[in-house]
Amino acid sequence: MLNENFPVKMFLGRGCLKNNSDLFSDFGKKCLIVTGKSSAILSGALKDVTDIFEISCISYEIFDEVEPNPLTLTCKKAGELAASINADFILGIGGGSVLDASKAIAIFASNPDLSHSKIYERAIPSAHLPVILIGTTSGTGSEVTGVSVLTNADTGLKKSISGKDCYAEVVFGDYTYTMSTPEDVRISTALDAFSHAVEAYLSSTENSDVLYFSSRALSYLKKYITSGSFSLLNDEDYESLYIASVYAGLAINLAGTCFPHTVGYYLTENYGIPHGRACAAFFPVFAARAKKYCPERFEAILKILDTDEKTLIENIIRVTDINIKIEKSEAQRISLRWKNGVKNFDRTPGGFTYKDAESALLSL
Ligand SMILES: [Fe+2]
Repeated sequence: MLNENFPVKMFLGRGCLKNNSDLFSDFGKKCLIVTGKSSAILSGALKDVTDIFEISCISYEIFDEVEPNPLTLTCKKAGELAASINADFILGIGGGSVLDASKAIAIFASNPDLSHSKIYERAIPSAHLPVILIGTTSGTGSEVTGVSVLTNADTGLKKSISGKDCYAEVVFGDYTYTMSTPEDVRISTALDAFSHAVEAYLSSTENSDVLYFSSRALSYLKKYITSGSFSLLNDEDYESLYIASVYAGLAINLAGTCFPHTVGYYLTENYGIPHGRACAAFFPVFAARAKKYCPERFEAILKILDTDEKTLIENIIRVTDINIKIEKSEAQRISLRWKNGVKNFDRTPGGFTYKDAESALLSL
């Protein structure tokens, strides 16, 4: 299913961390554990890791300052910490922000002269410490992508880095670590996975692998997207949502995302809208373009989800649940940021311009 160029060794399922605990020693004797404020602890993953480290005689320090939409400066600070303790590897435990930050921290740790904002201009691939990731949400797909989305601390703008130096070496995907996720986070991250799946499936960069990964993701998401319900979940539901996020991550790793991700960054930066909801907010506009420019693939998505266009759009709007109105002057000003072209716009069905972005912002 995955070609030989895919470098991530992935373990999936309940207990996969404990069942493969001997693997950590292959990476050295000193680790910087990277987390956010709470999910590493609430999920139980941090305790499971430190128990393994004690048995394996691996010493560690914990950097728990990764914020949502991680700043380049924060990653630089953690990279310096990793270098100062001579860490052999980085272990990230958390949601997408922590996983993305861990990749950047691993690069900063091995490149002491790289200033925080220069990570966007680094040589690719750059030297980096090995990265091991444990996800605590189901959405980002960062576990399986060679991408990390950072917020440039100089500009406040979200921008991704990518390359062979942005892949994890090992991922432990144990869905039980996602079970402590608050429902509002679970909904937003599921919407992120949904956005990944549909944007990849409908992109001009799709191929048979992308269609396969996206359709698998949508199959696993179907029950929740079409019912609009993300509560009263059992073991199987948590596992489905996690597997969906992995498949959707594999899809965008090959195809990339389309305009909703790029324009959605603005809603996160300026209005604090969580990433998944910010992307899904543009689904009605995206669906309309798909219906016009690649109707067969749009119909295929409706078939996978066993729904019709009207019901799907109504459900996504209801689940996304944001209430923003953007003035014309603001939409005009913001859209200029994309005037020189964006890869995500080029991949969008029918192409997409900064003027289309202005219209999309006004559609909210
Ligand atoms: Fe995303």
